[in-house]
Amino acid sequence: MTFTAVDVIRSKRDGGQLTDEQIDWVVDAYTHGIVAEEQMAALAMAIFLRGMDNREIARWTGAMIDSGSRLSLDVTRPTVDKHSTGGVGDKITLPLAPLVAACGAAVPQLSGRGLGHTGGTLDKLESIPGWRAALSLDEIAAQLNSVGAVICAATEGLAPADKKLYALRDVTSTVESVPLIASSIMSKKIAEGASGLVLDVKAGSGAFMKTLPDAQLLARTLVDIGTAHGVSTTALITDMTTPLGRAVGNAVEVAEAIEVLQGGGPADVVELTIALAREMLTLAGISTDPAKVLASGAAYEVWAQMITAQGGDPSAPLPRPSSIHVIPAPISGVLTSLDAYAVGVAAWRLGAGRARKEDPVQSAAGILCHAKPGEPVVEGEPLLELHTDTSAAIPAALEALTNAYEVGPSAPSPRQIILDSIHP
Ligand code: URA
Repeated sequence: MTFTAVDVIRSKRDGGQLTDEQIDWVVDAYTHGIVAEEQMAALAMAIFLRGMDNREIARWTGAMIDSGSRLSLDVTRPTVDKHSTGGVGDKITLPLAPLVAACGAAVPQLSGRGLGHTGGTLDKLESIPGWRAALSLDEIAAQLNSVGAVICAATEGLAPADKKLYALRDVTSTVESVPLIASSIMSKKIAEGASGLVLDVKAGSGAFMKTLPDAQLLARTLVDIGTAHGVSTTALITDMTTPLGRAVGNAVEVAEAIEVLQGGGPADVVELTIALAREMLTLAGISTDPAKVLASGAAYEVWAQMITAQGGDPSAPLPRPSSIHVIPAPISGVLTSLDAYAVGVAAWRLGAGRARKEDPVQSAAGILCHAKPGEPVVEGEPLLELHTDTSAAIPAALEALTNAYEVGPSAPSPRQIILDSIHP
């Protein structure tokens, strides 16, 4: 059967369902340059406005997976992966991967660099002297068998249709569509080949999904795609109204992750790390208690091995900024709110993130939050600490933080980190 892009666009424009054959054809033809960018732009907008049902979403995801190769790793332990939809101060991958490996699973964590106000895991790890993100497939498999955890750059050739389509969606205002977001995320994760996948879907000002119902819809769609493709998938929906932990940026987040691995760290980071580890271990069929393993120091040992295996020095001092600007608490009382989005934008402006894919990031840039919502503050004492190597960036960061926090007479109701969980 032959298809034309115009017919496929018209079907979706008029609210129809695309057939499996139409989906396979259009994704393949777009990948090979037969369907033109402007035609895919029109189809993406039609999907944005009309949506796709579960069958279409699962098929679209499959077609994007089939546009490239699938990783097949020769690993003896059960493999389990985690993906976060992105948040401010979200360094959870750093303690989580070694923790789950220390409990007996293999964690191939193929990660990305940050774009916009949420940071990228690779940017954070690159603040460790010598650490290398690019590994070959053989190196990934060898490290998974020896150490149990790898955090590295996604290999070329995974879901190339998504790479092309994501760049197109970015410039056609078609990013914020649940079917397109879900198929984009899952095509890459399924192509990575883990047998289990746990999703951390963020909800709140610092996240893609600002409200709980939107995050629940995305999480359900992601879990259904995983299930349709034979990958055991579960999701936690977690709070992103305020930054996770006290550190936002690159080296500062690595330092906080190390604190967690050494038995300390902020309570919310510890709680979420353990909750996600439990989900991952359940999928891997391992009954070890991750809280006990974290407390034993075994996860820190795996961290040190993982960093060393990728050329890094786990005991080297992390980069320090050349400029530090302190924002004091305006009055004494209790911090009642600290907005995740504003802090993310401020850290980005300080140099922790990039505006374009090819921009460099500053390892030492970021923000330390001396108080979290619910904690007491004293007038004149440090509230936020801005780190940068570009002192000229400080006014723009301060502007982003203008209405970012409030101090009141009494504590707000305690914040829940885990808002919901979604299972097949
Ligand atoms: N992350 C992705 O990988 N794809 C999207 O569409 C949105 C977020």
